[in-house]
Amino acid sequence: MTIEAFDVVDLIRAKRDRNVLSMEQINWLIDAYTRGYVADEQMAAMTMAIFLNGMERREIRDLTLAMIASGETMDFSALSKRTTDKHSTGGVGDKITLPLAPLVASFGVAVPQLSGRGLGHTGGTLDKLESIPGWRASLSNAEFFEQLESVGAVISAAGSGLAPADGKLYALRDITGTVEAIPLIASSIMSKKIAEGTSALVLDVKFGSGAFLKDIEQSRELARTMVALGEDAGVATSALLTNMNVPLGLAIGNANEVRESVEVLAGGGPSDVRALTVALAREMLSLAGIVDVDVEGALDDGRAMDTWRAMIIAQGGDPDAALPAPRETQVVTAGRSGVLVEQQALPFGVAAWRLGAGRARKQDPVQHAAGIDLHAKPGDIVTEGQPLFTLSTDEPERFARALEALEAAYRIGQAGDEILTGGPLIVERIGS
Ligand code: URA
Repeated sequence: MTIEAFDVVDLIRAKRDRNVLSMEQINWLIDAYTRGYVADEQMAAMTMAIFLNGMERREIRDLTLAMIASGETMDFSALSKRTTDKHSTGGVGDKITLPLAPLVASFGVAVPQLSGRGLGHTGGTLDKLESIPGWRASLSNAEFFEQLESVGAVISAAGSGLAPADGKLYALRDITGTVEAIPLIASSIMSKKIAEGTSALVLDVKFGSGAFLKDIEQSRELARTMVALGEDAGVATSALLTNMNVPLGLAIGNANEVRESVEVLAGGGPSDVRALTVALAREMLSLAGIVDVDVEGALDDGRAMDTWRAMIIAQGGDPDAALPAPRETQVVTAGRSGVLVEQQALPFGVAAWRLGAGRARKQDPVQHAAGIDLHAKPGDIVTEGQPLFTLSTDEPERFARALEALEAAYRIGQAGDEILTGGPLIVERIGS
């Protein structure tokens, strides 16, 4: 019989009583949880203790390293290109990875983008891309490397071998109300990104109603914590603190977000989506040592689009195929004339999810054509009867609950009223 190094109840009590856990204790805890010795209910108590009492930077670093050590790591050093990656903490209408990966790859760097599926009100990159007929999210390691070398950009499913402790812990946090804790979010995201082996990483850390962390101060602290974790692990890391009080762009869903991404790749698209794509691309390129390049030019002259098409084709997709169309739509119009002064991200995300764009349980399918198309943004003048947004779904019985979510989500005021966007889109950069 193996003698265990620690008693988990002692460690739970220690964190409950605001004590600091040692590296040995954290290593043991994560290992024992991954191999099933520490039970879910014990880990649930521990995550709640961490949620309530926090962790020091040193503990967060040890937790991240222990989660990396729970699985395999990837190594891109054999590639002929530098690697640079981006991670967003998630938001409503956040499709930026789709235009960003091919845009950055069009400058000759490799973008190994291991992505996830949506859970809750924030959408998943893979769910969006799967609305393209034929497109395949799962690649073998050989296919992944080959595509990075030839096309430069890969967006694919992260294998379960990377930081498996995080997979288990994240599923547990999701059902125990312990997602929104800085030490747990930071170690969860950074363990996967460091295990993935990128040499540079840009974090899009969101704050506001549609973000995990609503409060800008907390998001700033999360960004600083993650940048420090990346730097400690030898990954060139920076973060942009960005506003998620209002949905990003005009499309919230899956197929409609692909359509909007393609508009951006064609040099158009909503100005906020283009601006954030360009800012993150500049940051990713600069961490990879590429500065003074015309990032916007690559959107306007078709270079990024060429890489997008190559990326989709390499993964079995048809970039020219028609995207799925919804069976049912419902248009919501302005009840009065005036100025749209408010459009809150969270309820629009929840409504899109209720229409079928997202999933309630990991195993549920998503509807690729479900979602919301916005026809006006905060600050726009609207006239009575003008369409404000269109809801789409394959199951019309979903409309009522989606509309319920939207009841207090937007407001029409009058000229001169404050426009409630919660400030600029990009608030600051964090990093050296
Ligand atoms: N994304 C992750 O991967 N982990 C978290 O904890 C939150 C967002």
